Amino acid sequence: MPERWSARLRRRYLDILASIYIYNEHRGYSSLDRVLEAVRARCPDDRGFIAEVEKHRADERKHYIMFRRYFEARGEMPYAVDRTCGHIDRLIRLTFGCQIDDLDTAAVVKDGALFNKLCRIIMITEIRGMRMVDVLLASSLIGEDRALVKIFKVVERDEPSHWMPYEAWLRAHDGGRPRLRERIADTWVHLSLVLAKLPLLYLNPRLARRRDWYDSGEAEQAPVLAAA
Ligand SMILES: [Fe+2]
Ligand SMILES: [Fe+2]
Repeated sequence: MPERWSARLRRRYLDILASIYIYNEHRGYSSLDRVLEAVRARCPDDRGFIAEVEKHRADERKHYIMFRRYFEARGEMPYAVDRTCGHIDRLIRLTFGCQIDDLDTAAVVKDGALFNKLCRIIMITEIRGMRMVDVLLASSLIGEDRALVKIFKVVERDEPSHWMPYEAWLRAHDGGRPRLRERIADTWVHLSLVLAKLPLLYLNPRLARRRDWYDSGEAEQAPVLAAA
């Protein structure tokens, strides 16, 4: 295959991968706003846990910005992917039976079992993210893109601090380990994303680019920490 063609195919793969990531980073920090609301209401005196969730939210926002800068530096917009590419979207759908935006925060605050379940789902999503980034950093395809490697190294460094606080909280409050059903759902979402969704996007010649950024129009840019 001519060099030019292989470079184009590689570029498309990396762009689709980064497009899935930027979607998930945005979904991550915007969903964590609702989690924070639940955590503050459920355990208002647990300043340590609240601070860790706030840091988690700030990190996901930071990751989002890194991917945005990555696209901006190349003068490209991310591909338009939807919530079928969102790990947390699909996991919440499979385990809570609703979309993230329809999650009843008041019910989660009131019901300890639901709150524990939410913590378990965030925890397994973040553990999945940590494993995924290790796989990507070991890939020679990613290794050729220095800007992307730099981003994934930051994600790799941050990821453990994203699930450990939830695990510690669950341990301290008898919240249990992730259930078999939750782990199966996580595996299913992961495999279907990697083995079906990503190749389908890659092969879709009509896949369009977004026209705006996920955060354009958001009132605040990162003041959740300051507002706490
Ligand atoms: Fe992230
Ligand atoms: Fe994370």
